[in-house]
Amino acid sequence: MEAGSHVPVVTIDGPSGSGKGTISREVARHLGWHLLDSGALYRLVALLGSLRGVPPEDVAGHAALARAMDVEFGGNGQGGERIRVDGADVTRDVRSETTGQGASRVAAWPAVRDALLERQRAFARAPGLVADGRDMGTVIFPAADLKIFLTASAEERALRRYKQLKEKGSGANLAALSREIAERDRRDSTRAVAPLAPAPDARIVDSTGMSIVQVVASVLAAGRAQGLWS
Ligand code: C5P
Repeated sequence: MEAGSHVPVVTIDGPSGSGKGTISREVARHLGWHLLDSGALYRLVALLGSLRGVPPEDVAGHAALARAMDVEFGGNGQGGERIRVDGADVTRDVRSETTGQGASRVAAWPAVRDALLERQRAFARAPGLVADGRDMGTVIFPAADLKIFLTASAEERALRRYKQLKEKGSGANLAALSREIAERDRRDSTRAVAPLAPAPDARIVDSTGMSIVQVVASVLAAGRAQGLWS
C-alpha cells in the first residue's frame, strides 16, 4: 500500500461462539469503521451451493459461486442485519447451525478461500476496517494494525450460540450445539489451509465470564494504547 493511503485494520479472529461477531460489530460501530464478517461469506457459499443444487463435494462449483455471488450486507431498519445474495433475502438461513457446518466444509477448500481473498481485502476502505473471522490476522490482513484473538471456554461458547439462536427464533439444542461446535473447532483448527490459529503478534483475549461491554472496552483500550485512535 502506498504511503498516505494507509487504511487502518483491526482483526478479530477466534473460534465459533467466541463473540467475535458481536464484538466486531460494536467496535466498528464505536469507531465508525467498516465491518467485514468473513464467516458470512463462507456461509453464503455453502447456502447458495445447497439452494442451487451444487453437489456437496463439487469444489470448483462452490469456488465459482464464491467468485460470482452478489452479496449485500445491510440493516433491517430495526437494528438487526439483513443479508441478500443474488437478490434473495437469506438473513435467517445464513445464521443457522446447518449453514455454519456447511461453511466449515467449503472453507477447508483452498479454491474457495482463494476465490474470496480479494473480495475480503476490498473491504479495507477509509476510515478503517474491523475484520472478523478465522484467518483475518494470519492470511487476509497480515499487516493489520491491531490483531485480537478472542476465545472463551467451550461451555460458554456453546451457551452463547444457544442463546443467540433462540433469540433469532431458531430451534436449538444445547448438547447438540456443543457437539457441533467442537466438531467445527476441530475441522477449522486442523485444516491444511489457513487453520484457525492466533497470529504470532495477536493479543489473546479470553472472554470467559466477561460482558460484551468489557470485551469491547478492552479492544478499544488496546487500540488506544497503540495510538490507533484517541
Ligand atoms: O464465524 P462463522 O461461524 O460465521 O464462520 C462459519 C465458518 O466459516 C467457520 O466455521 C469457518 O470454517 C469458516 N470461516 C473461515 N475463515 C474465516 C471465517 C469463517 O474458514 N475467515
